[in-house]
Amino acid sequence: MKTVAAFLLVLCYLAGSHAWNCREGPRLSSITQIDAGLGKVVAVNRFNQAFVLIGTRWYRLSSVSLKHISVGPAGMWGASNTNRVYKSVAGNMLQSSGLSLQQVDAGGDGQVVGVSVGGSNTLCLRESFALAYKGVGSLSWSSLGRAMRYYSCSPNNGCWGVDTSFRVYFTQRIVPSNCGTSGWLYVAGQSMTMIEVGTDGSVFGVNRSGQVFQRIGISIRLPQGSAWRSVPMCMSIRHVSYDLGRLWAVTTSGLLMQCTH
Ligand SMILES: *[C@@H]1O[C@H](CO)[C@@H](O)[C@H](O)[C@H]1NC(C)=O
Repeated sequence: MKTVAAFLLVLCYLAGSHAWNCREGPRLSSITQIDAGLGKVVAVNRFNQAFVLIGTRWYRLSSVSLKHISVGPAGMWGASNTNRVYKSVAGNMLQSSGLSLQQVDAGGDGQVVGVSVGGSNTLCLRESFALAYKGVGSLSWSSLGRAMRYYSCSPNNGCWGVDTSFRVYFTQRIVPSNCGTSGWLYVAGQSMTMIEVGTDGSVFGVNRSGQVFQRIGISIRLPQGSAWRSVPMCMSIRHVSYDLGRLWAVTTSGLLMQCTH
């Protein structure tokens, strides 16, 4: 399977795309999820092992089992395979008590957002709590009032979420100090399994067939953008993340692609 996937990668280079140039990224066996933010890149694999990218090599972050990891203005946060929330403190992933979450995102304007188990609720940790948390005691989360299965925030272009029916929602702003939102807008056009918004506000999503899309037409007047533009990948994609001009795409077969414009 791995050999076949590697061969497909070669075909990918040949096919190319007029907009994005993709090549194989630093290899992390059975990678399942990646997050890039503030110049850092972190990932987890099928065995719930967490890694950080240094140069062209992946280094094990901690011995804690994580199924999702996120790095951004709010620090480095993760969700374990038993849905416990962890924060990186002095180089160690420390467990918090409080709610069980299946996904957390640290990409917002200081706040952390999370998805409860099964996507039944969406939660937000105020900036003051998120930044000050030293790994001791319980975290007090606020409800965001709209159920989502995946959620991602940016300091620059609000938050994007996908509900349990794969519908896409956007809120222009979450107030970091109190987790208030400016209301939710349904974004028609594509059903997505996940969406990530980068620190600079760029938005990418993956649909249920593993196709990647970029949101285009984002402006101050139209913060939700105007359309989805396909980013051809020639392999089925499971997860994407974008930071500082690099689009990272994890294939369903466990390979990593790195694309530049
Ligand atoms: C995903 O996007 C591709 C390309 O636009 C489209 O052909 C396919 O039907 C989409 N899949 C779903 C499940 O919407």
